[in-house]
Amino acid sequence: MTNAEIKEMATKYIINTYGERQIALVKGEGAYVWDADGKKYLDFVAGISTVNIGHCHPNLAKAIAEQAQKLIHVSNLYYIEPQARLAKRIIELSFADKCFFCNSGAEANEAAIKIARKYTKEKINPNKYEIITMYKSFHGRTMTTITATGQEKYTRENRWRAF
Ligand SMILES: Cc1ncc(COP(=O)(O)O)c(C=O)c1O
Repeated sequence: MTNAEIKEMATKYIINTYGERQIALVKGEGAYVWDADGKKYLDFVAGISTVNIGHCHPNLAKAIAEQAQKLIHVSNLYYIEPQARLAKRIIELSFADKCFFCNSGAEANEAAIKIARKYTKEKINPNKYEIITMYKSFHGRTMTTITATGQEKYTRENRWRAF
């Protein structure tokens, strides 16, 4: 499929939460990506800096393929060894004592807000519950993180929350 064909299909079947985009990416290698018309780009975006590890490193592709042949999704009702091992590794390399795993930036910010409020309520002062965020910031698209986002275009669309 071409960029235009993928765009047409996506526009028809996916809710328009992210606005119009010009290209569809189909493959990557290291710091480069290619669109559906075969044009090559240097990927400065890196998933908005969430996955700065390049595209399709053979070791990563092998690890994903091996896991895909063992077990796919099992929910958080169970422990899984790779998650426990990843948490241990992150803790060993960071300042923290525990990990919280989630699926998006909005969930991470939402969790950070809840943890800060709980900690402050229990350990510091129950009346100190307000979170201060920056003007022109962006924190995600859940109700809480939209509220924390200091941009009128998000809060204007979100005005009904006051009712
Ligand atoms: C600074 C910042 N916070 C939060 C988010 C929300 O992340 P997600 O879209 O994964 O929920 C983004 C996403 O662009 C972001 O750039």
